[in-house]
Amino acid sequence: MRRIYFDNNATTPLLPEVLAAMQPCWLENFGNASSIHQQGQRARAAVEAAREQVAALLGARTSEIVFTSGGTESDNLALFGLVEPGEHVITSAIEHHAVLNACHRLEELGAAVTFVGCEANGMVQPEAIRAAVRPETKMISVMMANNETGALQPVQEIAEIARKADVYFHTDAVQAAAKVPIDVEQIGCDLLTVAAHKMHGPQGVGALYVRRGTLLKSMLVGGRHERGRRAGTENLPGIVGFGKAAEMAQEWFARGGDNQMRALRDRLEQAICAAVEGARINSREASRVPNTSNILFEGIEGEGFVIAMDLKGISVSTGAACSSGAIEPSHVLTAMGLGEGARSSIRFSLGKQNTAEEVDAVISVVPDVVHKLRELSPAWAGR
Ligand SMILES: Cc1ncc(COP(=O)(O)O)c(C=O)c1O
Repeated sequence: MRRIYFDNNATTPLLPEVLAAMQPCWLENFGNASSIHQQGQRARAAVEAAREQVAALLGARTSEIVFTSGGTESDNLALFGLVEPGEHVITSAIEHHAVLNACHRLEELGAAVTFVGCEANGMVQPEAIRAAVRPETKMISVMMANNETGALQPVQEIAEIARKADVYFHTDAVQAAAKVPIDVEQIGCDLLTVAAHKMHGPQGVGALYVRRGTLLKSMLVGGRHERGRRAGTENLPGIVGFGKAAEMAQEWFARGGDNQMRALRDRLEQAICAAVEGARINSREASRVPNTSNILFEGIEGEGFVIAMDLKGISVSTGAACSSGAIEPSHVLTAMGLGEGARSSIRFSLGKQNTAEEVDAVISVVPDVVHKLRELSPAWAGR
């Protein structure tokens, strides 16, 4: 059975070109980018070429790109690199745990954090951010696209609020990069997080854009790699793959890949909503990245749906997290006020490898899976 993978917001498969670019980095061009001999120089050149590719995707200067081990580290570096005890951070209730839990740690360390909620459509209101600004506010951190709903947040307006208040603005763009065009100058952010494995690059590598002149404290203590902002030998194959993935993303935009992806996603949503009674799109009214669809199926239990789909060879997900042995509904959908509906919502996230045939195959399976789960659901049976 050929599996269908619709969980690309969790991670994406490598593009073949990315794998090809990485391949020489293990056996031939394996040098340490800090070494002064030829192998080292070749590795350094490869890292710097990748830095240019990633900078080009974000509209940044190469000196503003710090390579890290991924989205989590970049988010942590932005927050811990700038915020001190006694200072204040504003973030949103719908951030990824990489930001939320870093903020909780900052609270333990003596900083204050305001978690701003969102509207029913999954969008954070800039006004709510503005209202939370205090004299001691050091940073605002609001994501660019939500990982569960795909809702694009008003980051440009929030950046403007930050600029006027003279505070740093960080945006976690892990789920936005390579799905919508990004230009750090246009957004007006000071820091921006990206991760390679959400854009058909390898796992375990990411980057933090740090605006020129931002004095960021390194979290890791060691050598002076990445201009003193991130100690540790660069992950050469990962960085090279990341660079190639960034380049491929630019080509994808140039040939209208984002519009094609949106069309596939819309076809999936329309067909499912037409075929399944009691199905609705979460964050439908928000502007969203083109690959993400979060659908609430009344009367089902999300994990049951994921398992039933898995048995049919299709990978999808819920936003639920397992905490202390119990399955907690998604904090994002809960913040949107979905209540019990948060437990009945499923995320379908497309990647560049997915085809119209796969979308049609998923469309043909979903109504039956929902029907069978509802037959088992006392809540639905009682309707
Ligand atoms: C919005 C967002 N931020 C951060 C992360 C963490 O990235 P990484 O898995 O590279 O640590 C993810 C991963 O799912 C994400 O979706």
